[in-house]
Amino acid sequence: MASKHAYKLFFFMQSTVFLALLMYYCYTPHPTMSHHCKQQAFIKAFDVVSLWRKKNARGPLSNCTFNDIMNRPGVVLLTTANLGFLDMTINMLASIKKIGICVYTVIVAEDKNVYRYLRRRTEIDPAIHVVMTDSGEVQSDLVMSTDHHRYFSLLKKRQGYILRLLDQNLEVLFTDSDTFWFQDPLPYFQGDFDMSMMDPRSPYPTRTNKSHYCAGFAYYKPTTVTLQFVKKWITFMEGKDYMDQSVMNKLLQEDQPVHVNIKPLDIKLFPPGPKFYEFLEKNASYSAVVMHAASIRGHDAKVRRFKSSNMWLVNKTSDELVALEHSLNV
Ligand SMILES: *[C@@H]1O[C@H](CO)[C@@H](O)[C@H](O)[C@H]1NC(C)=O
Ligand SMILES: *[C@@H]1O[C@H](CO)[C@@H](O)[C@H](O)[C@H]1NC(C)=O
Ligand SMILES: *[C@@H]1O[C@H](CO)[C@@H](O)[C@H](O)[C@H]1NC(C)=O
Ligand SMILES: *[C@@H]1O[C@H](CO)[C@@H](O)[C@H](O)[C@H]1NC(C)=O
Repeated sequence: MASKHAYKLFFFMQSTVFLALLMYYCYTPHPTMSHHCKQQAFIKAFDVVSLWRKKNARGPLSNCTFNDIMNRPGVVLLTTANLGFLDMTINMLASIKKIGICVYTVIVAEDKNVYRYLRRRTEIDPAIHVVMTDSGEVQSDLVMSTDHHRYFSLLKKRQGYILRLLDQNLEVLFTDSDTFWFQDPLPYFQGDFDMSMMDPRSPYPTRTNKSHYCAGFAYYKPTTVTLQFVKKWITFMEGKDYMDQSVMNKLLQEDQPVHVNIKPLDIKLFPPGPKFYEFLEKNASYSAVVMHAASIRGHDAKVRRFKSSNMWLVNKTSDELVALEHSLNV
């Protein structure tokens, strides 16, 4: 028992020293953050001790170690999970694991069952951090596309999560769970911009007055402009039943509250569902970077589509996953 405490204290001190060292390097702000300063922002934002404790483990869901993650500091992959789409979340994580990408991942669980399930599966995973939503549980397994109020209120929560990470000087790659990853997308987010997204209505890479960006796979840099924009986006939707993506596009068109510098993503590399299958039909060896099953309506239709192209890596339903985990833990 005593040795266990000493062990804990040792790791605590080790991480405190590590943090102090990083702070020493980063006390003056730089226009472009160094690798060390990114690590500092990153570690400050999360539970250092628990990350450190998991240092040597290779995560069961991510197949990544703490060191793998520290090679890519300053970037957080953010996604949300609910019971209705838990299998989809697991499928996306499996696709990321399959290609060997290690990026620190935060999953916001929208209900307690999903929270408990994901917490258990990531207990020793240094790359995946699961948090319970603190903005009210939504019974998402009951959310149907006809229930607009509940559906929109679920979608609207993501800006709050994004803002919290941006406020800690982290870059955020937000992804919906209905994506499938074939290659590492991070190299596409280099350079000078505020936000990066795919626009299916304009010819790539031109931004036009018809632009309608997809918020389901989007990269945010913590610039002053991005922060101003995301804050405005949130206040604009407060108390209203607006679709978050429509509000985002309206504000972007009107340069409200500021002009946002958007780096467009190539639709060929980041296709929505129907476009992906169209390309695939013409070219059997077609490969994207990340496919987003947007515009394929409904959970079951998405799963069928994924299965049709060998992109379904899960062999249990969401309910079975949760039930199995329960039975192992009683
Ligand atoms: C996990 O990562 C290691 C090291 O990169 C690799 O050798 C191994 O094949 C990976 N395992 C899986 C299941 O992807
Ligand atoms: C949109 O852009 C086109 C082409 O540049 C222009 O002709 C049109 O007037 C614009 N529409 C609006 C509403 O600004
Ligand atoms: C088919 O897709 C592959 C992979 O994306 C690409 O390299 C190749 O050029 C494509 N072929 C044609 C004819 O478009
Ligand atoms: C799916 O089931 C098969 C057979 O039971 C098993 O070997 C495989 O590992 C499972 N795949 C996943 C991703 O759980």
